[in-house]
Amino acid sequence: MKPIPLILDCDPGHDDALAIILAAKNPALKLIGITTVSGNGGIAKVTLNARRIATLVNLHVPIAEGAGKSILGEVEEATDIHGESALDGAELPEPKVELSKLHAVDLMAELLRDSNEKVTIVATGPLTNVALFLKMYPALKEKVNEIVFMGGSATRGNRTPFAEFNIWMDPEAADVVLRSGLPLTMCGLDVTHQALVTKEIFAKLESMGTSVSKTIIGLLKFFAKTYDEVFEMPDPPLHDPVAVALLIDRSVVKCRKVNVQVELTGTLTRGATVVDLHDRFGARANCEVALELDFKRFWELMLDAIAQSAITK
Ligand code: RIB
Ligand code: CA
Repeated sequence: MKPIPLILDCDPGHDDALAIILAAKNPALKLIGITTVSGNGGIAKVTLNARRIATLVNLHVPIAEGAGKSILGEVEEATDIHGESALDGAELPEPKVELSKLHAVDLMAELLRDSNEKVTIVATGPLTNVALFLKMYPALKEKVNEIVFMGGSATRGNRTPFAEFNIWMDPEAADVVLRSGLPLTMCGLDVTHQALVTKEIFAKLESMGTSVSKTIIGLLKFFAKTYDEVFEMPDPPLHDPVAVALLIDRSVVKCRKVNVQVELTGTLTRGATVVDLHDRFGARANCEVALELDFKRFWELMLDAIAQSAITK
């Protein structure tokens, strides 16, 4: 089976870092570029983190810096969860992977233009870059195979009671993507809150004993501490790799294709994804929504990618 070409747009962030590793190390995928967007941290921080993680796992692909603010110019950092650097908890290598001179949106365009096959876009941060790409390069939309994004929720939010962080950071961008007409798969909190880093998973990481696994343990222990402090979740949810894992093995998640819209004007609900599970609006089913996770299969893929990342001296 030919590997699936993909671009990962992210805001590293602890779970984004693991998504990079999974996308880079599983042979079913061909990661052709990484683009960054501000979210978990400011754009400079998340871009440096992407380059550091790429260096950690000997990954050499184009990395381009993207939007530092939402379409409407808002910006916020999730330092309460990801720390001051946006990737606290472990010593990371100085980046050896160069930063592209292109803006993220232009790198997306270049990669799609040069590809002789359609390319999948996986977004694990706010959707600003993806929305800007769709607006600036409409002719290249046909080169996008599908968009898989971590974001939203069919129930409660995490940044506000009803809005999940990635969508809340740029609801207008999410609206552009949801109206794009492209094949969409949403991995919201409903499914990502099943991707827990349990004590058993930590024990499996400890048993690896590689420099990469030790670094990841440090990162995930920090993530576990902040998640417990903020959300009283002792086992933190590893959101972003779920969006990558389903490309490797679609059976990792169970989805339902329904209508998804985003609230743009609600005083208390702005940024909420309205997931019409029972077709109450009678509107077009525009998005596959992942609702169930095959925990065992997910961690099989994630742990294997970490094991494959061991730095060979
Ligand atoms: O709500 C969780 C999402 O927001 C994850 O992608 C996390 O990395 C942050 O970007
Ligand atoms: Ca993220």
